[in-house]
Amino acid sequence: MALTPELHAYVAERRSERDPVLAELAEETSRLGRAAAMQVSPEQGAFLSLLVRAIGAQHALEVGTFTGYSAISIARGLPEDGRLLCCDVSEPWSAIARRAFARAGLDDRIELRVAPALDTLRSLPAGEAFDFAFVDADKTSYRAYLEEILPRLRTGGLIVFDNVLWGGAVVDPTDRTSDTVALRELNDFLPGDPRVECVMIPLADGLTIARKRGRNEGERR
Ligand SMILES: C[S@@+](CC[C@H](N)C(=O)[O-])C[C@H]1O[C@@H](n2cnc3c(N)ncnc32)[C@H](O)[C@@H]1O
Repeated sequence: MALTPELHAYVAERRSERDPVLAELAEETSRLGRAAAMQVSPEQGAFLSLLVRAIGAQHALEVGTFTGYSAISIARGLPEDGRLLCCDVSEPWSAIARRAFARAGLDDRIELRVAPALDTLRSLPAGEAFDFAFVDADKTSYRAYLEEILPRLRTGGLIVFDNVLWGGAVVDPTDRTSDTVALRELNDFLPGDPRVECVMIPLADGLTIARKRGRNEGERR
């Protein structure tokens, strides 16, 4: 069922996460104009915090930070000694994010690297360093992000991909734009990938949650 605007507002209101720093950041970001639409919705932010806390994540990764809303949401779910590594290519948006991290009292928990995310990921040491990853950057690289993140994720860890419904374009066969094609390919690939179990949920523009399977789990499929 598609949500009516009334139902969407109803859903969005009924969350427990209320953070004045996030409200202020959303207001600041709205002044950027059209780019502001890239920010995750408040209910998505609350969902990210809950997921991170629910799996007891200590080390998290974000690909696509923009002005920092989802990063703060993720970091809020981490313990005090937790760590979040953020990747973005934009200096001006990263500057806004860094100021927001400081206002949220999270600047000691978050490292933001300004560089193409694939370069940052490939520069990381091998090993299962992360418990949780959120992917919300250039859509044509989503599959490459999966391949770089999965070996660095612990068994049972989660990768969450944003915008997997792409405003409904993924089910429009006439839409052959590169972003739509890349998202459709990932959406078709993941359910058959023995390395993960996944589910897509129609929150905001669609989220896919992929959990890394253990070796034996993979063999049982
Ligand atoms: C949809 S926005 C992220 C929104 C953010 N998660 C939030 O909730 O505010 C996408 C971001 O990805 C960044 N981006 C685009 N291509 C990138 C790349 N190759 N590597 C790293 N970041 C990239 C953009 O600069 C932009 O800030």
